[in-house]
Amino acid sequence: MSVSASYVLRQGLQWGRIIRSSNIAMVASRRLHHEGQKALPSLPVPELDLTLSKYLKTVKPLVTDDEFRLTSEIVKKFASQDGIGAKLQSLLEARAKNTENWLADWWINAAYLDCRGPVVVWSSPGLVFPLQEFKTLDDQLTFAAKVIAGTLDYKIMVDNKTVPVERMGKDVLDMSQYFKILGTCRIPGVTRDSIQFYGQSANPPKHIVVAHNNHFFKIDVYGKDGRPLNVRQLVHQLRNVVERSTHPTHPIGILTTQNRNVWGKAYKELRKDKTNRASIEEIQRCIFLVALDGPVVNPTGNEMTDAALTCVHGNGPQGYAGNRWYDKTIQFVVGKKGAVGLTYEHTPAEGPPIANLMDHIMDYMMAGKEQQQAEELSRPHRLMFNISADIKQDIEDAKVALESLVEDLEMTCFKFSGFGKKFIKSHQLSPDSFLQMAIQLAFYRIHKEPGAHYESASTRKFIHGRTETIRSCSVESVTFAKAMLNEDMPNAEKVKCLREAVEAHKNYAINAVNGMGVDRHLLGLKLAAIEAGMDVPTLFMDVGYLRSSHMRLSTSQVPARCEAFMCFGPLVPDGYGCCYNPRENEVYFGTSAFNSSPETYSGTFREALEQSLMEMHDVLVEDSLKAKL
Ligand code: COA
Repeated sequence: MSVSASYVLRQGLQWGRIIRSSNIAMVASRRLHHEGQKALPSLPVPELDLTLSKYLKTVKPLVTDDEFRLTSEIVKKFASQDGIGAKLQSLLEARAKNTENWLADWWINAAYLDCRGPVVVWSSPGLVFPLQEFKTLDDQLTFAAKVIAGTLDYKIMVDNKTVPVERMGKDVLDMSQYFKILGTCRIPGVTRDSIQFYGQSANPPKHIVVAHNNHFFKIDVYGKDGRPLNVRQLVHQLRNVVERSTHPTHPIGILTTQNRNVWGKAYKELRKDKTNRASIEEIQRCIFLVALDGPVVNPTGNEMTDAALTCVHGNGPQGYAGNRWYDKTIQFVVGKKGAVGLTYEHTPAEGPPIANLMDHIMDYMMAGKEQQQAEELSRPHRLMFNISADIKQDIEDAKVALESLVEDLEMTCFKFSGFGKKFIKSHQLSPDSFLQMAIQLAFYRIHKEPGAHYESASTRKFIHGRTETIRSCSVESVTFAKAMLNEDMPNAEKVKCLREAVEAHKNYAINAVNGMGVDRHLLGLKLAAIEAGMDVPTLFMDVGYLRSSHMRLSTSQVPARCEAFMCFGPLVPDGYGCCYNPRENEVYFGTSAFNSSPETYSGTFREALEQSLMEMHDVLVEDSLKAKL
């Protein structure tokens, strides 16, 4: 089976051209393909023994022999006839029989809506667009207007259900995420959040919200004739926003950066006021939000990193964090000098649909198609807020909390120009697995021990599928890292270890995309126990489980055709975040770590990663030269 994220690339290449020349037959056939979505298979429940033996394999490199013996005993007991495993497995199988996807509802709560930490840094990724250079306000506003127009152009495909259906090899993928990213908003709650899909309501939104200097404005983006505003009209509207918000106001948006319980309480208070309620609802309902920022605050000297930080946390209260509404799914950021991108609230979708939207926008800009003028509506409508003394205090508290998060997160984003997918494929290796092994090697190089390692794999072959974890740290990855760092190891042996490690990763990836990984099944068993009012089994408290799920490496491949990259914070305080966009001859990386961890620094990680990639390159080249002699 071919496991390929390049379906995204392939589809994207056709995107602009095909859609613009779309005819009725094509639209009808695309719609038919979407009809076929209902026939997608359900996520399987793997056999218990199979998952447990895979699980033990992933624990092995991360524990001592004594710890492994203990974990093995716990697993054996869990799996035995009178153990709890069989009971939970049958509960899970019963659930699978009665649902389209046994995990979907559980996942959205467990992975997102129940999480009480801030979405900023801990959950919402940034997506940095190709860097721009704006010399004037007009440059900035024109680019923002094109982003808006490009997104509205993309929305036509969403509304008509003509987004090209993607495939992984021969398998059709679930497309539902594409219909959930526009007009969506996360709503804070005191113990659990919720999510609203206004784009799918009977009365879908026709407006966007633009933030500038912490002011929010509603802009109707369709004329009376239903035609979207063209770029010139949008620039006019944006200019009006800028002229009417020359001084910063209360950074009300910063409340959305808070711990979710705290924001949930403040939200209740804020909504008591009728004016506030109306303004919040306009923000929540809008198709998407655009934040017009000033110049980057506290530049690092690396423009890619600056843009990444601007997208991820807006550089905190001293920067533009008040000029955001982090609950909104899509929030574009257009900086004064050319740092552009978006931040997205993760609940409804993974990175690939978001990166596809960006590719569409960039295509749209390149095409530079002149649109007809829409019959213009009213001028931008200012969204008013009445700020009580309590809310003022909530804003101050949010500033303090965010400031420490901003000070803690550090990032290093870069383009690795040594080689890309082409070179890796030419050696008959999977590019993704190769890059994952380079990340393993980089970690081992720095820490002299293996790190539990999370990679997202898409389970969109299944109806409403989201992700499974690829546990990239394996016995083979550790053997490979040790071999590479051993100067006495012959080159041929290093290459053998490299190929075995890549192969082991690739096998895990194939299992994961087929719903046969470890983590989601174990999560299902745990949640089945909780739902049945049973005790959480010892398996989940054991050192083997805890260490193998303390993901010191949180990684993801998000391919894009343009020179862009996604980025996010680490999953754990002593970990790294690492997202990459592999291209034919280069790889874009967004890496991160926390300053509060003395052990981790993204700059060191970058060096170790680049060194690892080049050494892996060199051993392969030397090996193939030898073979030719
Ligand atoms: N020799 C030569 N070529 C090979 C090869 C080999 N041994 N193994 C793979 N390739 C080729 C593939 O055929 C593919 O070719 P194509 O570009 O012509 O289609 C290409 O290399 C890429 O394949 P590979 O690198 O192996 O994997 P992938 O790009 O399919 O990615 C996953 C693997 C797991 C990342 C992907 O399946 C996935 O799930 N992506 C979604 C992740 C996600 O959701 N991220 C967002 C989280 S927010």
